Amino acid sequence: MGTRKAPSRILLLGGTSEIGLAILAALGLGPDTQVLLAGRDTDRLAAAGAELPGKVSTIRYDAADLASHDELIADVFADGPLDLVISAAGLLVGQQQLDAAPASAGDLVQASFTGHVTSLLAVAGRMRAQASGTIVVLSSIAAVRPRKANFVYGAAKAGLDAFARGLADSLHGTGVRVLLVRPGFVIGRMTEGMPPAPLSTTPAKVGQAVAAGLAGHRGVVWVPAALGVLAAGMRLIPRPLWRQLRR
Ligand SMILES: NC(=O)c1ccc[n+]([C@@H]2O[C@H](COP(=O)([O-])OP(=O)(O)OC[C@H]3O[C@@H](n4cnc5c(N)ncnc54)[C@H](OP(=O)(O)O)[C@@H]3O)[C@@H](O)[C@H]2O)c1
Repeated sequence: MGTRKAPSRILLLGGTSEIGLAILAALGLGPDTQVLLAGRDTDRLAAAGAELPGKVSTIRYDAADLASHDELIADVFADGPLDLVISAAGLLVGQQQLDAAPASAGDLVQASFTGHVTSLLAVAGRMRAQASGTIVVLSSIAAVRPRKANFVYGAAKAGLDAFARGLADSLHGTGVRVLLVRPGFVIGRMTEGMPPAPLSTTPAKVGQAVAAGLAGHRGVVWVPAALGVLAAGMRLIPRPLWRQLRR
């Protein structure tokens, strides 16, 4: 079972995420849809919520506060079942900055990987109990193969991608679905100031691809779709050549 009828209650973890909000926009929500935006900055969450149709509320969520996630998710489910959870928190920091301040690499990994694990295991347990629901996980082309210019982010995304595939398998047959989304370079807030990579896309296009993915049956969506072919080729490049990549 997936989200083939319009979801009536949705949680966006990373409630100010451009991609997460673009997914909500692409879903064409009705005025009765309940949307929970979960994030760190109350004012920006409220501003994002004002742009959305539906009944929007905001909750405080710090992806790095791992010990808080189970209780937070329990509170959300205590108010009713969730049809859709979009896990969109993430942090992209340049490798040179991380090399100079290794502790900040821990923040990146918690926001981009560990926090998803603790949050989504809590979600999955409750969705398994309700025997329905869909979890959208935002992986990345960066998960395919670590690049020296970006390997901490790539490692976090590879961990998240593996987690999502394992979670999908563990939920198979329970009525709960996982949709794994692998965008390429998305022109937007996270990549501001960076020159676009080949096959770049936009938050709106990712939103449309996810909405189409939710309406279908696939477990993985590449955005753009051609990126899946590029990724297969990337895996075949010999390592001495791969390590020459500048970015
Ligand atoms: N942009 C790309 O090129 C690209 C490509 C592939 C995959 N992705 C992935 O897609 C997802 C969404 O990215 P985006 O493009 O929408 O970027 P974005 O607009 O910068 O959104 C990132 C979100 O993560 C939140 N966040 C960061 N650290 C957090 C923490 N400790 N606790 C709670 N929330 C935290 C941010 O909240 P604040 O507002 O509080 O900072 C923001 O809501 C991420 O997982 C990203 O890795 C992005």
